[in-house]
Amino acid sequence: MTHNDAGEAAEGESLSASFEQHLKVWEGRAAEALAGTGSEGLAIFAGELLCPERDDLPYPFRPEPWLKAWVPGAAEPGCWLALVPGRRPRLVFLQEAGFWHAPAPDPDGFWVAGFEIVYARSSAEARRQIGPVEHLAGLGPIPGGSAFASVNDPAILRRLDFRRAVKTDYEIACIAQANDRAAAGHVALRDAVGGCPSEFDLQQIYCRTTGQTEAELPYPSIIALNEHASILHYQRRDRSPPTNLYSCLVDAGAECNGYAADITRTWVGANDAASGTFAALCDAMDALHADLCAQLAPGLDFVELNERAHRQLAQLLAQSALVKCSAEEAHARNITHSFLPHGLGHLLGLQVHDRGGRQTDPEGTERAAPHGHPFLRLTRRLEAGFVVTIEPGLYFIPALLAALAARPEGRLVNWPAVERLLPYGGIRIEDDVLVTAEGAINLTRNALTRADPVKTVTLVE
Ligand code: GLY
Ligand code: MN
Ligand code: MN
Repeated sequence: MTHNDAGEAAEGESLSASFEQHLKVWEGRAAEALAGTGSEGLAIFAGELLCPERDDLPYPFRPEPWLKAWVPGAAEPGCWLALVPGRRPRLVFLQEAGFWHAPAPDPDGFWVAGFEIVYARSSAEARRQIGPVEHLAGLGPIPGGSAFASVNDPAILRRLDFRRAVKTDYEIACIAQANDRAAAGHVALRDAVGGCPSEFDLQQIYCRTTGQTEAELPYPSIIALNEHASILHYQRRDRSPPTNLYSCLVDAGAECNGYAADITRTWVGANDAASGTFAALCDAMDALHADLCAQLAPGLDFVELNERAHRQLAQLLAQSALVKCSAEEAHARNITHSFLPHGLGHLLGLQVHDRGGRQTDPEGTERAAPHGHPFLRLTRRLEAGFVVTIEPGLYFIPALLAALAARPEGRLVNWPAVERLLPYGGIRIEDDVLVTAEGAINLTRNALTRADPVKTVTLVE
């Protein structure tokens, strides 16, 4: 199946068909990563529950990403995977005996056939069941890992990180299904926001609709009403609705078999302090977003796409009379950086910010973020099979605006117009897009259309 087919047929398709091929691809990548290291295989540890100092109540569990890549259903504390290329992978599945907690349920589902599964009743037994480890390279948060040939060897991790950017058909299907799940939540919030719920209420609706607890989300939802949207990773949840609703920015995701969706939408509230300007800016940002997505194809330099986003944003600032100079001058003088301080996007997969975004080869050579864009996480040329986020933004961040006002360029800004937009916080639109041999497939727009087949999913409500 081509990536194109995979992206289009991902919905509803059984994952078992593609999982076998996924395991083969990753076995090859593991063999490549191990070459020359002296280790014959990997021992991957899921991690364990950790407690704060002087406490016995654990933090939420975040499984080791590499374990999720191989065994989607065993992302449970204390599990191990021994993976020696050419041999059947061996999963040691911890089902702790005792009466304080429910043990992990038996492994089940499309993935189990690929593994030899042995059970352990304690962490110590699980460690023993892995067998001799002196020829295995350990990956993950391994406690007291001295018996292993290595633990988290950077050479091995760099090779795996470089290859993970190209997704298997199985991974694409998982990310597409994660998008379906998240899209249902975004549609529910869009429909709810008119009733002026609080940020806290919106998060409850999102979790209920997507069937996820807070701890299961791939990242903490960013649910920002009004000026809170100017805080890029806004994490508080006001219990009270605002008196006037101007805007609502929701950046919230979902997981499927350990693979993430990362989606942002911005809506306009009923209160309009800027006489339609914010709604017009949302529409313009949607058009800008569509233009950027249309550029995606193998060979595209993401650094150049990031630069294109800033050129387009400069045009928007000029056309909307938020600056008093030409688009070219606004771009040349880096004025857009004050309105869009984060990068245009990143790789997406086992982690929301998938590693390897700045690597230019498997050995770990890095291409740094370009001058003036320190937060750009992706500096590679795109290849078919990459899944990237495209997330341009336009924010009204008081601290950055104050710094801009203090620069010579400050005189080029139409401050009264910008200040009228402060109560809105900002705009971000974020989709997850699969690069294909022919161009790209927007997994998020497809999912939103499926989630809301009756009403058209509009950006602005
Ligand atoms: N949700 C985090 C990000 O968009 O990168
Ligand atoms: Mn993102
Ligand atoms: Mn996001």
